[in-house]
Amino acid sequence: MHERRIQAETIPRHVAVIMDGNGRWAERRGLDRVQGHRAGIEAVRATVRAAHELGVRFLTLYAFSTENWSRPKGEVDALMGLLEHYLAAELEELDRNGIRLRAIGRLERLPELARVKLKEALERTRDNSEMTVVFALSYGGRTEIADAARKLARDVESGKLDPEQIDEKTFGAYLYDPEIPDPDLLIRTGGEARVSNFLLWQIAYAELHVTDVMWPDFRKNDLVEAVWDYQQRERRYGLTSAQVQRDGKESEA
Ligand code: IPE
Ligand code: IPE
Ligand code: MG
Repeated sequence: MHERRIQAETIPRHVAVIMDGNGRWAERRGLDRVQGHRAGIEAVRATVRAAHELGVRFLTLYAFSTENWSRPKGEVDALMGLLEHYLAAELEELDRNGIRLRAIGRLERLPELARVKLKEALERTRDNSEMTVVFALSYGGRTEIADAARKLARDVESGKLDPEQIDEKTFGAYLYDPEIPDPDLLIRTGGEARVSNFLLWQIAYAELHVTDVMWPDFRKNDLVEAVWDYQQRERRYGLTSAQVQRDGKESEA
């Protein structure tokens, strides 16, 4: 396919990706599901590089959900091994390219070695400012909201927070990484149009792009296609099209 013409001025600031379809990719080739996950690492590398080249500032990758813990133990162990391998193999290059890594989720559930490698990667890249790559690991959107509610309730209990002060902004500050802006574009590979417990609070006004491409096959041209699709949309946030166009002209002037 020819490369879509995308506009540099309206690149989505934050792209979030539900990296789905590794298992089907492998099964179609008569391979083991784990080989699909292994092949998916190349897609992660390519997508980080491509997002950086396009000027995306934040890239969040859904790598492992709270529900994924219920998969067969062999598959879970293999996924954790791949995470450790990815961090060990890529840290150098990510750091060299000025990429800051972050992680969201119930990270305490990860195996010891993965936690150590992750901590090292987060610390080493903390001051980088080219682009932020957020890994959602052992992540669930409902768990994140429940965890935020618990922290907030503790602050109310201790008198640090007045319940009357609670609004969207105060609540949002209790989420796992409140510094990360909401995603503008949410991509799901593997063809299914569902959210699967990803960033439920943050995707309120994200534009959704579903592609049939299975995650291990996802490359720069697929990201460009998604950004192009995004750029065809009018983000109205509940307003009328006329209002949005008038506001756009005013901010240009
Ligand atoms: C996504 O691929 C990777 C993870 C959920 C960890 P899947 O393993 O869900 O692949 P399919 O959906 O079964 O094809
Ligand atoms: C979503 O994929 C989670 C990740 C990509 C990490 P799943 O394969 O787990 O989601 P469902 O089962 O299709 O909803
Ligand atoms: Mg899946």
